[in-house]
Amino acid sequence: MNTETATPAKRDRVVIFDTTLRDGEQSPGASMTLEQKLQVAELLDEMGVDIIEAGFPIASNGDFEAVSEIAKRVKRAVVCGLARAGNADIDRAAEALQHAERRRIHTFIGTSPLHREFQLQLDKDQVHERVVSSVTRARNYTDDVEWSPMDATRTEHDFLCRVVETAIKCGATTINIPDTVGYATPDEFRELIRMLVERVPNADTVVFSTHCHDDLGLAVANSLGGVTGGARQIECTINGLGERAGNAALEEVVMAIKTRADILPFYTDIDATLLMRASKLVAAVSAFPVQYNKAIVGKNAFAHESGIHQDGVLKNAQTYEIMRPEDVGVKSTSLVMGKHSGRHAFREKLIALGFELGDNALQDAFRRFKDLADRKKHVFDEDIAALVEDEMTQQSETIRLVALTVIAGTGGPQKAIVTLDIDGAHQTREATGDGPVDAMFKAIKSIVPHEATLQLYQVAAVTEESDAQADVSVRLGEGDKIVTGRGADTDTMVASAKAYVSALNKLVTRRGKSKPEALKAG
Ligand code: KIV
Ligand code: ZN
Repeated sequence: MNTETATPAKRDRVVIFDTTLRDGEQSPGASMTLEQKLQVAELLDEMGVDIIEAGFPIASNGDFEAVSEIAKRVKRAVVCGLARAGNADIDRAAEALQHAERRRIHTFIGTSPLHREFQLQLDKDQVHERVVSSVTRARNYTDDVEWSPMDATRTEHDFLCRVVETAIKCGATTINIPDTVGYATPDEFRELIRMLVERVPNADTVVFSTHCHDDLGLAVANSLGGVTGGARQIECTINGLGERAGNAALEEVVMAIKTRADILPFYTDIDATLLMRASKLVAAVSAFPVQYNKAIVGKNAFAHESGIHQDGVLKNAQTYEIMRPEDVGVKSTSLVMGKHSGRHAFREKLIALGFELGDNALQDAFRRFKDLADRKKHVFDEDIAALVEDEMTQQSETIRLVALTVIAGTGGPQKAIVTLDIDGAHQTREATGDGPVDAMFKAIKSIVPHEATLQLYQVAAVTEESDAQADVSVRLGEGDKIVTGRGADTDTMVASAKAYVSALNKLVTRRGKSKPEALKAG
């Protein structure tokens, strides 16, 4: 490992703009509740994220409320709201951000031929006029305005230079260059930023930014290419969450800059030891599990399976490790909690694992931990984390699983008896099905009618023994609404029912009707 680094004086700061709550949450099935968004925003703020894009205020009342609440709570980071190039969008973003300590309006318009012709049906001059009116309007509300030419990487260079020049003239302070469809390659993206910095008048008065999607798996490489070309802001998301294949992953960008400081003369202000905690929180609240071999935060990212690797790491960790697990907040698996552990020890353990719960949530989590310790021989850190994440998912839900009995086996037919709590009232139904999962989902459906189809049902073991908790993910699709849910329990059927119910809660919310109406068929 080359440990030579440029001296801090020669290194430029790269601003981290997190869009987990906007671009990330926009990804089908990743919707979060207001409470969950606030938790994520608070952690991003604590981690040192410079700008938090909290949502798209005109998109829905839920988005407006989330941006507005985050604006009130976040004290350090700049809070940003997205707006298209129209008056109503910009006014709504400004309204949502009015209580923010520091606010930014991010306005955008498609500039590529495809976007101009087919999506907007505007010619170049008309798009140009919209740039003038939108940036000028946003500047009337705040002196921190970001402007993005959507699909910039497929926009003619001359036109791109023209609109960027205009946005700067009208007062934009950050120019974000989106690779909206994840089409660019790293060299090409670096040269695009370099071309803009060199050709556009007054380019040195603004910050250039990257916003790269991962359709070709190049989002992080392109973002770093952009920084090498002159950008000083990277837009990214925790776990790379985002539209289609996602965005550049914040944890990868941050650790690449940190680990390769020998050739990348940059730094960020992110506290990398909070990366794992942020990854787990976002995975839990979005119900998007992190792939095992995901860089930095995957379960296997620091696991050495082969004998040669294990031998090398034991002799000197640097033989096969370019980062230390603790640098990104990975805690080693330990076996310190058991059924005799008290509430105080449990609270200390939660803090060590990065969870801070209020008194009621702590009480519920402790009760569940005791129950788990009665059923499971060894309680690992991962078990406690899964339990708490599960508790966080179930909190504030309208529909909750109360009881489940499943009759399964070779004899058939399989049968399930389910009791749900819906806003305080219990309802019990039973159903038979083609297997226990089918029976259980049918019983739940008879209590909460819906037209959704099951698009994904995935079971993973939290730890390695046969009494391990099951971590179940479920994705449901109803019309154009896609929702995901997650549940954990030592009983796979209970975990499955919780995951299904958690997804149904999101579906009911997405129906956008009053609660009694929404609970009926969608
Ligand atoms: O991908 C994109 O182009 C966007 C813009 C709104 C910046 O998300
Ligand atoms: Zn995007």
